[in-house]
Amino acid sequence: MTAASAPGKVILFGEHAVVSGAPALGTAIDLRARVLVEDLPGKTEISIHGLGLRLSGFSVDSDGRVVSLGSSDEAAAAARYVSAVVKALDVRDVRITVSSEIPVASGLGSSAAIVVATLAALSHHMGIDMEVKSIAAEAHRIEKTVQGGLGSPMDTALAAYGGYIQISDGVTPLDLPQMDLVVGCTSVPHDTRAEVARVQELRSRYPEIVDPIFKAMGVISRKAVPCIKDLDLKELGRLMNINHGLLEAIGVGTRELSELVYAARGAGMALGAKLTGAGGGGCMIALPKEGMCSRAITAITQARGRAFVVRTGCNGVTVE
Ligand code: PMV
Repeated sequence: MTAASAPGKVILFGEHAVVSGAPALGTAIDLRARVLVEDLPGKTEISIHGLGLRLSGFSVDSDGRVVSLGSSDEAAAAARYVSAVVKALDVRDVRITVSSEIPVASGLGSSAAIVVATLAALSHHMGIDMEVKSIAAEAHRIEKTVQGGLGSPMDTALAAYGGYIQISDGVTPLDLPQMDLVVGCTSVPHDTRAEVARVQELRSRYPEIVDPIFKAMGVISRKAVPCIKDLDLKELGRLMNINHGLLEAIGVGTRELSELVYAARGAGMALGAKLTGAGGGGCMIALPKEGMCSRAITAITQARGRAFVVRTGCNGVTVE
């Protein structure tokens, strides 16, 4: 029996701009997908457990940590990713059991974490020595195949390496300190493909407007690195607020997302807040002031969001 796990992620800065070559910064969070592989002579079975990952399907404890997940409609989607890994490694005679704490369809990297953990567990079970670098590359290839060619390597790189990753002419792991963030989910699932297409369409219509916005987002992604390094959270919060405004400018904000962003910022609970990922739905992140996590969670909840605390910079794929 072999078990492996891999983390979900949040994009901190530079989503959408990264599609057109600007730098983006993301971090692995302490919500994980876990995969168990056992021998099962004569057949191959994939079972998806505890994948209660619908946005409405989780609950949080008094510290704001995710504690339980309901049932799942998304099991079939998860199984597609697992099957693609099984096919890529040409594995047979195993039972693969997947469980995950990562909300799906919300930009938190759930599918990448499942692909990476499955690759690690299966390859280890078969006695194949896969380095983290090849797990990241193979996972990106598989994720793109299942999603039909879409996707930066951000999610799969973070699931594999953990920590922080800058995407800019390739994947650069960065050694930066951990922080607590509050994630607020709208009940609207997001559709990365549709949002990317809409933004790219806007860019081809108004390149002289959108390209400078992307450039500014890239500058923010770079400026954020020393802020995190020095834990200059005030400055980091300001950068989050500017990035959110730029994402609104390219049309990926929604009323629901903005309500959560403004709820978190309200009464000075968060130093900054922005939507995270493709937008159009999904989640936002807030950088709480010291000791303000639970108040930020309450504010987001009152604005009809689902909120929880995550730790950034968590470990990448682990064979357990
Ligand atoms: O919401 P997510 O995690 O699917 O992130 C999408 C990020 C984009 O920059 C919009 C697209 C990409 O492939 O980088």
